[in-house]
Amino acid sequence: MSPFRVTRTLPEDATGAALRADVRSGLTRTPKTLPPKWFYDARGSALFEEITALPEYYPTRAEREILRDRATEIAAATGARTLVELGSGSSEKTRHLLDALTGLHTYVPVDVSESALVLAGEALLEERPELDVHALIADFTQGLALPETPGPRLVAFLGGTIGNLLPAERAAFLTAVRALMVPGDALLLGTDLVKDEQVLVAAYDDAAGVTSAFNKNVLAVVNRELAADFHPDMFIHVAVWDPEEEWIEMRLRSRTAQTVKIRALDLAVDFAAGEDLRTEVSAKFRPDGVRAELAAAGLARTHWWTDAKGRFALSLSTAV
Ligand code: AVJ
Repeated sequence: MSPFRVTRTLPEDATGAALRADVRSGLTRTPKTLPPKWFYDARGSALFEEITALPEYYPTRAEREILRDRATEIAAATGARTLVELGSGSSEKTRHLLDALTGLHTYVPVDVSESALVLAGEALLEERPELDVHALIADFTQGLALPETPGPRLVAFLGGTIGNLLPAERAAFLTAVRALMVPGDALLLGTDLVKDEQVLVAAYDDAAGVTSAFNKNVLAVVNRELAADFHPDMFIHVAVWDPEEEWIEMRLRSRTAQTVKIRALDLAVDFAAGEDLRTEVSAKFRPDGVRAELAAAGLARTHWWTDAKGRFALSLSTAV
């Protein structure tokens, strides 16, 4: 069996330091915010997996449909020998791509969730024992150093996760990804598309309450990691569509006036009754917007595929 390597590109405590910095800056500004990457501890990753199976949450199924139908085309267009997957999560929907990439030598899943990486890497190696798997525990928004692997490389950023970045962050991110690429390498990008408001809001506020539990899980993460005393039940899960920005916002709305203590930061945070803490933006895209953002980063779009219902898109671009 080929090696399954796991590399932590940040020292063990970098995560803790980043969480402390994000919580301090996010909870002392107005309006209050927390970055969505802190959802994904083991419980948050499991809740997200549950979300992907919800009837209201279409993006995962739509993207899987495109990957199933287009994997052969993607493989032929790229001839990739290395697949780098940013924010790989469970790598479940990547399976179609991995199956189609017959010349693949190395798979580099990159995620902030160690539990998701290890589970996915082990499952994959049972099926593809000849594949080199080099997992990276990394925050890809903070700059990436990739291992030396054979080209051409295909960098995949799926799930619509690019929508979690604000426009300026997306520009910086795409530029950084472009800098990892040489001519002949390609980027496969998943983007959720603008659609009917009710459909979008339902996808982020499901009837079974799984997204609510996922949203509130970030409070449990802060409680555990920073000795805070959030009562998740004292907050209401809210999903709103912003028609100007064309993004969904997830928020936690304080039921009452309350003070939360964060002992590891020696910080007390006051919430007014009805005050919102923004925990995620999930931007939705239009075809021309995606093309322009890619072009601005030096990436030329060569392919654009949507699912049959036109809900979600995958685009393939090459470095120019
Ligand atoms: C994993 C970032 C693509 O924004 O749709 C799901 C996360 N948040 N339900 C998304 C999420 C609420 C998801 N991404």
